[in-house]
Amino acid sequence: MQGRRDFLKGSIVAAGVSLAGTAARAQAAGKFPPGLIYTKEAPGRWAGKEGTHVPKATLEAGVLKVVTPHGMSEKHYIVKHTVTTPDGKLIGEKTFAPTDAAAGSSFPLPDGFKGALWVTSFCNIHDLWLAEFTV
Ligand SMILES: [Fe+2]
Repeated sequence: MQGRRDFLKGSIVAAGVSLAGTAARAQAAGKFPPGLIYTKEAPGRWAGKEGTHVPKATLEAGVLKVVTPHGMSEKHYIVKHTVTTPDGKLIGEKTFAPTDAAAGSSFPLPDGFKGALWVTSFCNIHDLWLAEFTV
C-alpha cells in the first residue's frame, strides 16, 4: 500500500510539472507564432545560434546602434535589421548585401523617445530574431 501511495504522489507531482511547462509554452506561443520569430529565450529549432543571431543594440546620443555579430558571405548573411515600437510603428530598417563587411545599422530615435523598441535581425538561413530594448 505504501508503494502505491508513493507512486500516486509521484504521478501528481509529475502532472503539475507538466502543466506548468504547457502553460509557459502557451504563453510564449501567444506572444509570437511558434517557428516564425526566435529570441535569446526561445531559440526553437535554432538553439545554439543565439550568440550570432540575436541583435544587440546600444544607444549613443539619441541614435540606436544595432549590430548582429554574424559573418557575411554570399551563402550565409544577415539580410535586414528593423526597429519598431511594440505596437508596430517603424523607426527604421536597413537591408544588407552579402558583400557588406558587417551587419551594423544606426537609427536616430524621435526626439524625447522613451519606451520599448523591438529590434529584429533576419538571417537568410536562420530566420528572424528579435530582441527588446528599452530607452
Ligand atoms: Fe545565420
